[in-house]
Amino acid sequence: MGAVILGTGSCLPERILSNHDLEKLVDTSDEWIRSRTGISERRISGEGEEAYRLATTAARNAMEMAGVEPSEIDLIIVATMSSHMTMPSCACFVQNELGADNAFAYDLNAACSGFLYSLDTASKHVLCDQEKTVLVIGAETLSSRINWKDRNTCILFGDGAGAVVMRYADTIRGVLASQLFSDGALWKLLHMHAAPSCNPAIDPPGNPGSHILMEGRDVFKYAVKAMESAVLQLLEKENINLDDIDLVIPHQANIRILNKLLSRLGVKQEKVFINVQKYGNTSAASIPIALDEANREGRLGEGDLLLICSFGGGFTWGAGLLRW
Ligand code: ACO
Repeated sequence: MGAVILGTGSCLPERILSNHDLEKLVDTSDEWIRSRTGISERRISGEGEEAYRLATTAARNAMEMAGVEPSEIDLIIVATMSSHMTMPSCACFVQNELGADNAFAYDLNAACSGFLYSLDTASKHVLCDQEKTVLVIGAETLSSRINWKDRNTCILFGDGAGAVVMRYADTIRGVLASQLFSDGALWKLLHMHAAPSCNPAIDPPGNPGSHILMEGRDVFKYAVKAMESAVLQLLEKENINLDDIDLVIPHQANIRILNKLLSRLGVKQEKVFINVQKYGNTSAASIPIALDEANREGRLGEGDLLLICSFGGGFTWGAGLLRW
């Protein structure tokens, strides 16, 4: 029995922001960005490309592949931390746009690990109630949460959305297992304040505003170690050998984190799907966008074993195994 992915979809904003464009905004260079991060360009939302609209198009593409109508959707989970409004949730906007009148909808914030956490949550909904059809979406417009004068962060992130449709099937396919972790003690290394509070008593002193702040070197070290450990624990728990994995889709943070992780694990490059060069770090959207591209390129065959892993603010991290 399994919570099976029936369809995948994605949506990227039209506007491309290249490293050369960034050279005009901050003191940086295309060479520095590519050598430190592997990123050449990223997509930035324009008018009419809020997170919920990207999410809705990604969802429509996934539903079309799955052959599922809006009325058949029972639950919508959107992993995001950059919706255009705090209330209602991004998921409720998506529900309204889709006309998914039978669905309940909520957001899940686990920063860059949001899609992995959401997939785990969705698979449990599906296994508990085998009649449920669930849309799981990762959608971010981090361009709205970036200090465009901070060269440490503004070069890293991009906007986009990816989605999957999940439903129960009596099969060995589907989400097999996940291993999820959090460590709130390390929040300061990667965080984003809310907008200034209406109650000064509880506003953090000197609230710098709602944009990402990061200790890049520390994040790098923790991310590699944490994802490596999560993957190894998951494989051991499931009694699966790394050689049995057909494709790895890691969170597309940056190429140096990925290369370090993959060399420590001993995974061959040809077994890894990477698109960070085109989109930068799209946080919760990065795995579902990559999953959709890998799927549409025919990189996943029926019965293939897929490994995903992620790391993000919180800290949050983990790994997941799926039989395609
Ligand atoms: N262009 C040019 N120079 C820069 C830039 C830039 N965009 N940014 C920083 N520098 C400078 C620094 O000021 C510093 O100069 P100094 O030596 O004169 O002080 C120098 O480059 C080296 O800075 P470091 O921060 O040490 O550079 P590092 O090699 O660590 O690379 C980077 C920075 C790319 C951010 C790296 O630390 C990293 O990849 N960290 C992981 C961060 C990440 O991926 N976060 C995403 C969220 S978490 C996740 O998704 C997993």
